[in-house]
Amino acid sequence: MIQYIYSGRAYKKLIYFVFLWTCVCFVVFRIATNYASDRRLVYLSGSHAQAQRGLLQNMPLDYATGFVLSVIGTTTTSSKISSPQRENAVDNDEAISSKFLNSEPLVDSSHSLSEQELYSKLANISNLPLAYWAKMGKKPKNKSNNKSCNASFPSVFELDFNNIYWQRLQATNATYYLYGAYFDDRWRGGALANVRILAMIDRISPPPSVCQFWFADITSPVFSNASYVYGWYSKWGNYKDGLLQPFIITCKVPRIKGLAKTLAPDSVSLVEKKCDKASNNLRVINNRPKVKEDFAVCVKGLDFLQEDLSVRLVEWIELLNILGAKKIFLYDLEVHPNISKVLNYYSQKGLVDLTKITLPGNQPNLPGFRHYYLKHKLTNKRQNELIPYNDCLYRNIYSYKYLVLLDIDEVIMPLQHYNWSQLMQQVQIDSLKIKNYTRASYNVRNVYFLDDLGNGEDQMNHTGHEPGIPRYLHMLQHVDRSRNYTKPGQYVKCFHNTERIVSLHNHFPLNCFGSCTTYSINTTLAQLQHYRKDCVGPLKNSCNSDFRVRPVRDTTIWRYKEPLIARTTKVLAKLGFFS
Ligand SMILES: *[C@@H]1O[C@H](CO)[C@@H](O)[C@H](O)[C@H]1NC(C)=O
Ligand SMILES: *[C@@H]1O[C@H](CO)[C@@H](O)[C@H](O)[C@H]1NC(C)=O
Ligand SMILES: *[C@@H]1O[C@H](CO)[C@@H](O)[C@H](O)[C@H]1NC(C)=O
Ligand SMILES: *[C@@H]1O[C@H](CO)[C@@H](O)[C@H](O)[C@H]1NC(C)=O
Ligand SMILES: *[C@@H]1O[C@H](CO)[C@@H](O)[C@H](O)[C@H]1NC(C)=O
Ligand SMILES: *[C@@H]1O[C@H](CO)[C@@H](O)[C@H](O)[C@H]1NC(C)=O
Ligand SMILES: *[C@@H]1O[C@H](CO)[C@@H](O)[C@H](O)[C@H]1NC(C)=O
Ligand SMILES: *[C@@H]1O[C@H](CO)[C@@H](O)[C@H](O)[C@H]1NC(C)=O
Ligand SMILES: *[C@@H]1O[C@H](CO)[C@@H](O)[C@H](O)[C@H]1NC(C)=O
Ligand SMILES: *[C@@H]1O[C@H](CO)[C@@H](O)[C@H](O)[C@H]1NC(C)=O
Ligand SMILES: *[C@@H]1O[C@H](CO)[C@@H](O)[C@H](O)[C@H]1NC(C)=O
Ligand SMILES: *[C@@H]1O[C@H](CO)[C@@H](O)[C@H](O)[C@H]1NC(C)=O
Repeated sequence: MIQYIYSGRAYKKLIYFVFLWTCVCFVVFRIATNYASDRRLVYLSGSHAQAQRGLLQNMPLDYATGFVLSVIGTTTTSSKISSPQRENAVDNDEAISSKFLNSEPLVDSSHSLSEQELYSKLANISNLPLAYWAKMGKKPKNKSNNKSCNASFPSVFELDFNNIYWQRLQATNATYYLYGAYFDDRWRGGALANVRILAMIDRISPPPSVCQFWFADITSPVFSNASYVYGWYSKWGNYKDGLLQPFIITCKVPRIKGLAKTLAPDSVSLVEKKCDKASNNLRVINNRPKVKEDFAVCVKGLDFLQEDLSVRLVEWIELLNILGAKKIFLYDLEVHPNISKVLNYYSQKGLVDLTKITLPGNQPNLPGFRHYYLKHKLTNKRQNELIPYNDCLYRNIYSYKYLVLLDIDEVIMPLQHYNWSQLMQQVQIDSLKIKNYTRASYNVRNVYFLDDLGNGEDQMNHTGHEPGIPRYLHMLQHVDRSRNYTKPGQYVKCFHNTERIVSLHNHFPLNCFGSCTTYSINTTLAQLQHYRKDCVGPLKNSCNSDFRVRPVRDTTIWRYKEPLIARTTKVLAKLGFFS
């Protein structure tokens, strides 16, 4: 009690003290500033040291009181003035200061998101189960009350994250970097549904592991032994332990009494031993749109920090859309700001789906440097690409009939039909005549539209000579191609049949239900138009003799001239490329 009274009194004294001193300070400050502005010339001719000895210093006042800026501005600058020429500058500064006396600087004044709002945004760009984001902070599951098996739902703060988008399992003899998990109950996969986990693992034959499936309505996890699908060929290199290898980890979802076979687990954890406490927990993606569309395009991680390919990208996206691509899935490692502008525009329109991605493990992710890592470690780059390709596959197995994996300098061009859907109708008929079953993939032969192909005068001066076509439309301007196609099966791109493929690679499927059958589309029906400066690395030596001689003028793309010019130009104008 005594203490309480004592502290109350002390408080009063303190307030009184502070009040008194505030008054004194204020009076002194007014005197000082009036003095300063009245005698500005005195200050001006005085030395720096004199100004420093002024009654009150500018900076502390500025922060502590927020007193009228123009006064402070005057004293601040004048204290540094020593020559007559600078007087104009003083007047200028004074003018600027007083001009903005009552201005509101343009800071971002939109309300900051609440914790819950932020979580709902983050939920869309993470691979975490929604339960975490929906009831962040609360315990989403009961603790395990089974003494013999301690597998309990890991809290979000117990997870082992890696390079933003990955989760890690550190097993005794292997390290797993997990990117995403997907529900796969395609009937060819067998009586039980599968959950696929995309992972990079530092072992070529990883040790056994176990999936813990978590369902919203079941307290304890459901277990399933994992099997491994290797997403790479040993003969392509980097086939050794210690380097990260792409895998599609597959776990069968056991039948559970009372639950439908089609019920997907909400999330999955990968552990070394069945009852281990999990260090990871991935949302099981199960996108089931009402309508299955025909075509989508998948593009590996974009790595164009310095090359501004934005205008070419607009032309490419619009052409693919005209040909029948309903959506283009791109992965963003690092791109030029102008490319971001283009991609964000199309994301908002719904034509592009953009996913940020990083390299897992100890690989570099410093923007710029990462580019050189990927450039100089080509095999590592290719192994890393398997993750975005297969993520694109598994997110879309129920959404599209065909996925087309393209780079942004490639287009599959139908030669007798207007669009892909008409082309594929014809191809289906032709292929079923030969063997009566749908193939896993339908491949298209590659042909180069090199930058410097052309005849005589045109050679080496390609841009801008096609009349009536804007110079910035690269593909419409480049209508000379090499006479030879690259060899059958080499550098081809496919229409991948989402019903049959288990793992994808750039050119062909690697694993399928049954065997990976492919049908080669006749070059009278379609070709892969590849817009490059030069032939790809292995063909560079024979490029001049095989691909640059006797080029062929091929203006098939002009079929789309009108809509393509109109649509591209409109978008470029809208995004401010012409101002
Ligand atoms: C998350 O994604 C879904 C589906 O794409 C979308 O409907 C929803 O608006 C997104 N939420 C936020 C907060 O962006
Ligand atoms: C959690 O456990 C308690 C008691 O053990 C039980 O009453 C409750 O229903 C459980 N909740 C869920 C979601 O299983
Ligand atoms: C499970 O946890 C309890 C208490 O934390 C411990 O006594 C028990 O030995 C653990 N069981 C196993 C199988 O690890
Ligand atoms: C505890 O876990 C073990 C191992 O999964 C299982 O066999 C057993 O039925 C569980 N006991 C209870 C009470 O859930
Ligand atoms: C780890 O590898 C060593 C050597 O190959 C082996 O003896 C050991 O059994 C392995 N441990 C596990 C848990 O797989
Ligand atoms: C899972 O693997 C363990 C250890 O390898 C084995 O004992 C068990 O029988 C397997 N379970 C099933 C359902 O195959
Ligand atoms: C393909 O072209 C035909 C004929 O021009 C058209 O009727 C059809 O709607 C087009 N399909 C798509 C998906 O654009
Ligand atoms: C092709 O196979 C389907 C069933 O797979 C069958 O209905 C159809 O008659 C077959 N067509 C021919 C020409 O054999
Ligand atoms: C081609 O370009 C070169 C320089 O880039 C120029 O000197 C030459 O006149 C051009 N030729 C034609 C036919 O435009
Ligand atoms: C492609 O089609 C043409 C004309 O239909 C035909 O002459 C040619 O043999 C076909 N090529 C192949 C490889 O089937
Ligand atoms: C095209 O390919 C064939 C066979 O590979 C080769 O003999 C020929 O020289 C190449 N070039 C041209 C222009 O035909
Ligand atoms: C593209 O980038 C350049 C350099 O940063 C910039 O000057 C230009 O305004 C950008 N274009 C658009 C449309 O933003």
